[in-house]
Formats: sequence, structure tokens, C-alpha cells
Amino acid sequence: DLRQEAVARASAIRQSQRPKKEDPEPKLRVVLGAAGGIGQPLSLLLKACPLVDELSLFDVVNTPGVTADLSHISSIAKITGYLPADDGMKKALTGADVVVIPAGIPRKPGMTRDDLFKINAGIVRDLVQGIAENCPKAFILVISNPVNSTVPIAAEVMKEAGKFDPKRLFGVTTLDVVRAETFVQDITGEKDPSKTVIPVIGGHSGETIVPLFSLAKPKVNIPADKLAPLIKRVQFGGDEVVEAKGGAGSATLSMAYAGFRFAEKIIKAMKGEKGIVEPTYVYLPGVTGGDAIAKETGVDYFSVPVELGPSGAEKANNILSELDDNEKKLLEACTKGLKGNIEKGVDFVHNPP
Ligand code: NAD
Ligand code: LMR
Repeated sequence: DLRQEAVARASAIRQSQRPKKEDPEPKLRVVLGAAGGIGQPLSLLLKACPLVDELSLFDVVNTPGVTADLSHISSIAKITGYLPADDGMKKALTGADVVVIPAGIPRKPGMTRDDLFKINAGIVRDLVQGIAENCPKAFILVISNPVNSTVPIAAEVMKEAGKFDPKRLFGVTTLDVVRAETFVQDITGEKDPSKTVIPVIGGHSGETIVPLFSLAKPKVNIPADKLAPLIKRVQFGGDEVVEAKGGAGSATLSMAYAGFRFAEKIIKAMKGEKGIVEPTYVYLPGVTGGDAIAKETGVDYFSVPVELGPSGAEKANNILSELDDNEKKLLEACTKGLKGNIEKGVDFVHNPP
């Protein structure tokens, strides 16, 4: 009868409104540039990670082999690989919620990261255009150098497409943090270097990298004569690897470790884990708390410890007032260099060469 029908309908509505126990949509993580020196070990770490349900690999070469190889690993992530043919980029990106970009050429001895701009700017622009078209809500993690400029490029491409969400765009500067943790161990003798938290702010090249050893937790005592060389080593750690590889590229394995460490934190934060704070290079005016930092530094893109959450970069922590006098000086040199790098990236999108 009518009453029974109404009860059934009400129950059906209640049922449909009940939160689902498990999200039935598999979450898709994508690596663009997956067959490269960073891309392969990074894809390996993601494939092995129990937080990854689905992994998609894209590169202009060699993804079939890399994908076949990784697919034999008995972890839960389902893996697929694509080349540009047959709409490969679209297929790789559709449905993605996290996209990591290590695509682009690396340095050789004697080169600066800015020397990579000519080639990598266009690569990043085109890949981010693909993200804007196929998965505009994905979190974008940019590894490709020069990070100081490629992140502004990514932002401008997303802006032009009307899809920019500053909370979802991250320049990956974790390798600088990892290096600071590792190099200070020579002084502290700490058994597990990753237990010392050292904020690194600014950008990702030479003097734009500002490690803040005065804010290390737990506190570290660095003899005065050892501080300047330690800071320099973090700022120019990339050169050490470039020189040692003698023309065969730059850091790949330590970068894959660092990129995975950051991606895993992002995934955990997306899943609702609280209290995750990581330095990352963001568009400050678009992140809560970032405006004040942008005013103080005079730059819109900057790496600071950022609180991560389900919507991405939820708060930029302003620690500038805590810097000691030496770090304040380093910050001046940093922002000077950073300004030009940022302008170059923004200009590239609006006035392509
Ligand atoms: P690599 O040459 O070994 O690998 C790059 C990969 O990108 C290659 O497989 C190449 O085929 C691919 N690629 C090129 N154009 C592409 C496109 N349009 N679409 C998809 N894939 C494309 O280089 P690598 O050592 O892996 O370094 C990659 C980048 O990461 C470099 O720019 C390097 O400077 C940078 N990097 C950044 C950091 C950091 O801390 N952010 C650290 C190390 C390296
Ligand atoms: C690094 O810091 O190792 C990377 O940015 C690669 C490079 O060019 O040094």
C-alpha cells in the first residue's frame, strides 16, 4: 500500500545518503617522465607502497618495458604504462588525483639548473596542459628543474586554463631537506639522521636554498667554523652528484627517495592524516598564511613548512621571525635570485619564445 511504499522510498533515500564505507573509486597516481633516471626508482617506490591502488606511467620512451618489469611486483598497485601515441598522455592522466613530474633533461658538469630552462620549460608547460585538460583537480608535484621557474610555469598554465588551485601545486624541495638531515649528521653523530628535523626554505638552486640549522629539532650545536661549509654543502649538494656522475646526469636515486617521501606524505594527508608539515615550494598568495610571507620576502613563490591536508597546502607556516642574523642574510641573497627565476617562468607562458 501507499504507506509501505513511502517507508521503502524513505529507506532507499537514507541508504543512498549514508557515507560509503570505502571509496569505490580507485585512486590513481601518475608519474610523467617515468622511464627516466628519477622516474624509474620513483615508480618502483610508488608501486611498492601499500597506499597506492593504481599507478600509471607516462614517458616519451620505454614505458612498456618499465611497466612490464614493475608489474611483476606482488604489491596491490595496478600498473599501466603509456607512450604519447594513441592519446597516451590523456589515458595516463584521466582519473588521476596525484601527478608527479620528473620529466626533463638533467644537468651535466658546468651547467646551472637555469641552463635546463630552454628545454624543460616547454616540457613542463605541455605536461601541465595535459593535466589541465584531463585531471585538473589532481595534486601536481613538480620535480623537473629549474624548480624555481617550472612551478610558476605550471601555475600560469593552470591559470590560463581557468583551473588553478594553488593548494594543489607543489615544487618538490624535499631533497634539500634530506641533504640537510644527512650532512648535519657528521657533526651531531646522530645515529638516524632522519630523526633531526631541519626546515629548509626558499627555492631549489644554489643560494636560493636556505637551510635553517638554528631551528633544528632537536636542537643541534654546530661549531662556528663548521656552519658556513655545512650550509654551502646543502646549497650545492646537487653539484656534488653532478660532478661525481661525470656527465651521466644528476641525482636520481636520492631524488626518487625524496620525491617518494613527499608524495607519500601528500597521500597520507589526502587520506586525512593530521599533523603533516613539510617544506615545499608553493604559490604563497594562494595558501592560507602565505600572503604575509610573500609581503615579507617580496616573492610569490617560496618554500616554507606547509601544513598538508585533504585539500592540499592548508597553511604556510611563517617562521621568518625565528631566523638568526646569519639566516636573515642568506634569505636576502635567496630572494634576489628567486625573483628573476620566477619572472622568467611566468614570462615564458605569456610570451613564448
Ligand atoms: P632523465 O633524463 O634520466 O629522465 C627524464 C625523463 O623524462 C626521460 O625518460 C625522458 O624521456 C622523459 N621526458 C622528456 N620529455 C618528456 C615529455 N614531454 N613527456 C614525458 N616524459 C618526458 O633525467 P632525471 O635524472 O630523471 O631528471 C629529471 C629532471 O629532474 C631533471 O630536470 C632534473 O634536473 C630534475 N631533478 C630535480 C630534483 C629536485 O630536487 N627537484 C632533483 C634531481 C633532479
Ligand atoms: C639536485 O639538487 O640534485 C637536483 O636539483 C639536480 C641538480 O641539477 O643538481
